[in-house]
Parts: sequence; structure tokens; C-alpha cells
Amino acid sequence: MLRRCFLVGTGTLALPAMAQSEAFPLGVASGCPRPTSVVLWTRLTREVPVAWAIAEDEGMRRIVHTGLATAEARWGHSVHVDVEGLKPGRPYWYRFTTNGQESRLGRTRTAPAPTDRPTALRFAFASCAQYEHGYYAAYRHLAAEPLDAVLFLGDYIYEASWGRNLVRHHAGGRATLLHEYRERYAQYKSDPDLQAAHAAHPWIVTWDDHEVTDDYTGDIGPQDPDPTRFLQQRAAAYQAFWEHMPLSNAMRPDGPSLRLYDRYRFGDLAEVSVLADRQYRSHHACRATLTRGKPLENCAERLDPGRTMLGAEQEAWFASGMARASARWNLLAQQTLMAELDRGPGERHVYWADGWDGYPAARRRLLEAVAASPAKDTLVLGGDVHSFWAADLKGDFADRQAPTVATEFVGGSITAQGPSADRLKGMAAKNPHIRSALSEVNGYGLVVLDARKALVSFRTLADVRDPKSEITTARRFAVEAGRPGAVRV
Ligand SMILES: [Fe+2]
Repeated sequence: MLRRCFLVGTGTLALPAMAQSEAFPLGVASGCPRPTSVVLWTRLTREVPVAWAIAEDEGMRRIVHTGLATAEARWGHSVHVDVEGLKPGRPYWYRFTTNGQESRLGRTRTAPAPTDRPTALRFAFASCAQYEHGYYAAYRHLAAEPLDAVLFLGDYIYEASWGRNLVRHHAGGRATLLHEYRERYAQYKSDPDLQAAHAAHPWIVTWDDHEVTDDYTGDIGPQDPDPTRFLQQRAAAYQAFWEHMPLSNAMRPDGPSLRLYDRYRFGDLAEVSVLADRQYRSHHACRATLTRGKPLENCAERLDPGRTMLGAEQEAWFASGMARASARWNLLAQQTLMAELDRGPGERHVYWADGWDGYPAARRRLLEAVAASPAKDTLVLGGDVHSFWAADLKGDFADRQAPTVATEFVGGSITAQGPSADRLKGMAAKNPHIRSALSEVNGYGLVVLDARKALVSFRTLADVRDPKSEITTARRFAVEAGRPGAVRV
């Protein structure tokens, strides 16, 4: 249900569930924060001219840029404005206007200049917001955090219904066509708590599988293994994703291709590499998807060095970036648990086909690039597995003495249901590089960086089924600069 009430020019972001002007039913958003630019986003329901303005103050008195955009039907009446010429490392406020109606006020923030030395940076990392599994209280709390940016790591929508004890329902069935994906985004984005999270911070986004379909790999989807048909579905899904995310006009998809991987620099303190691990990856080893047998045991193909998660081009781009990295902290914003996770009971060795464990050679190459980097402090941030994890990433997971080359944190899920705590306990016990595992709770991760350390918090809701749920920090970890590995604090 879209909200249909008027509330114009209230000017503050502190109000929960602020009503929207009916011309802007899906709210506003910003993203891709650079030192002098940012992307502003909204979506309308008609092809109309839309004015935008961005200001240095919350009262919109010191306006620094204005412009006119068109909400084109071809792109779902979405508006993406690449604003240039901004000052680095400071907040801005923005608003859209059409036909005498104003959007809510959005707040964004530019990244510090490459030569700046920010004393601290704060990022939330979030993923997996299945609309039916719970309310978006986590998004409301995320809106209230002081942040430089939100890193969204995939499964912003779910293409299909699943799970138990649903608190609300998708309006349609399984999405495969453009209008169905658009309707799904519109329903998710009608949620006032999600709108508040977008209006409060710039987002840096990547996707996982559910923005298209569960467990797809490159040009194959489990529901439709015909690549020609599946690529049409992927094109529709990628278009709807671009239409609904604060992504640059330069990132517009071309059929089933959209280059999402990118790098964001935050002064001398952090560089964020955003990875995209679905579009270019090899198919599941031992045909795991097509036989619906995702746990792999004794599958030699899994170890094939030719298997790729990122594709050759992205892999080379990543390695060259690591080779000249110079920020204190490297953050990898990617989809899923990277640490090896042997799920086999007893002496058996069982690995999940769809995660990094299905692509161990690609993982080794990525971690070699990290280990060879002149920048020694790398944090890998992930989602997908609907549980919270802290892990030491090693070049060789079988060798308990192998040095830790990076520290990993997986930030739970906004709502999506995950594995039982008992299952996690067993898996964590078998894999000694796993430092912490937490499930049956929802929320997001928070990382606060300074020159000496990274502090990572697992922020968890009291009850995802309660729209007013409170949030607390369930666990907190420190990573000291120069000493990879998570220490619980
Ligand atoms: Fe998910």
C-alpha cells in the first residue's frame, strides 16, 4: 500500500515514518558517494519533468546546485541525477519537486578527498531484506546511526515467497518479467523504514542472487536452465535493479549486462572495493543447482583452477587495485561468507556449492591479491547466509598455522530467516578459523575505523516480527591495524 497523504517541507529526518508527497511514493535516495559527486534518486509514476536541488544546510537555504530531470517511462519513471562539483567530506541535503509537490528532504554525504585524513569513518553493512519475514525496524535503526555510508551487500528484494510465519505478503508471485520486478521493488520501497534509511545516508550497493532468482550463476537460473530465456529474465531484473537504486546514469544496464563492481575512496583511511559475484561466475560445480544438491562432497570439479567467481576481467581489476592500494583499511563489500566452511558431520567434508566454497581456486587467487597488497589491513564484509559471522581468512584454511591475511565479518540479515543456532555451533566448532557465529537474530553490521583499529558491532533486533523493535549490540570485535584477525571485545 502506498501512502497517500501530504506532508510537505517538514525538514527534519528525525521523524519516523514520515509521510510522502503522493508524487514521490517511493521516497528519495542517494548513493555512489565520491569526494565531489553523489547520485540522487527518486521514482515517479508518470513521465514528468522533475526539478532537484542540493544544499549545504538542512533548511535548504544555501542551495549549491539545481537542475531538471525527466522521469522517463522507458526507465520506469526513475530519476538518477549525477551531481558534480560538491565539496568533499561533508553532508548535503536535497529535494525533488514536480508539479508543485515536494519530495521529502534527503540527506547525503560526500566522501573525504583522497588527501584528507579523516580521524574516523563509520559504515553499516546490511543484506537480505525478505519483506515477508519481518518488519524493517533494522532499517529504521540504521537510519538513526551516524554513518558515512551504508554498504548494501545483496538480496534487497526477494523474487519469490518462502519461509515460515510470514508477517506480510508479496503482492505478486515469482517475478520473472520487468513489470513484476518493478512491482516488487515498489512494494519493498513503500516501507517507511526503508525510505528513512535511504533518506538518511548515501548507499553503496551490490547485489546477490535474489535480485534476479535464487542461486543463479552467470547465464543459468535453477528455474530456467535455458540460457537464452534466462538472460532475458536477467536483463529485466538488472534493469529494475538499476531503476530502483541510487546508481549513476553511466551504470545503466545494457541488456543482461550491468557493471556494478567499483571502488570508493574515503581519504587516506579507507578504500571500499565493491564486488559483483553473480554475473560472471562459473556454473555450480558438479551441476549442483540443476540437481538441487547444493552440498558438495567428493566433487573434484569444485577444485578446478579454471573456475571463477568474479570473472577474469573483474578479477584482474581487483588484483591491480590491491597492488596499488594505499589507504589504511581495505574494505571488500561482497556478497557471502568467504571463509571455508566444512559442513560435513564427523570425518566427512561437505561444502556449499553456491558460496565461495564452490569456487576455492578463485578465493585463493583473491586472497593472494590481498596478501600481496602494500596495504596490510583488509576487512571482508558479507551477507547472504542470514546469520552473523567473524572469521580469519587464510591462504590455506587446512593449515591452522597459516597466517591470517584478512578479517571477515558477515552482517546477518535485515529480516530473512536463517539457520538454527545449533547447526551453526556445530559448523563453527569444526572450522577453527571461524571466530564467532550468531543466528536466529536479525540486524546489520557496523564498522567504525580509525588509524589504529576497526571496531565491528553486530547490531541485532529484539524481535524482527515487531515493527517497533529495539536494537542492541549483540557482539563487538576489534581488529588492530597491522594485526589481522578478530578479537572479541
Ligand atoms: Fe539472502
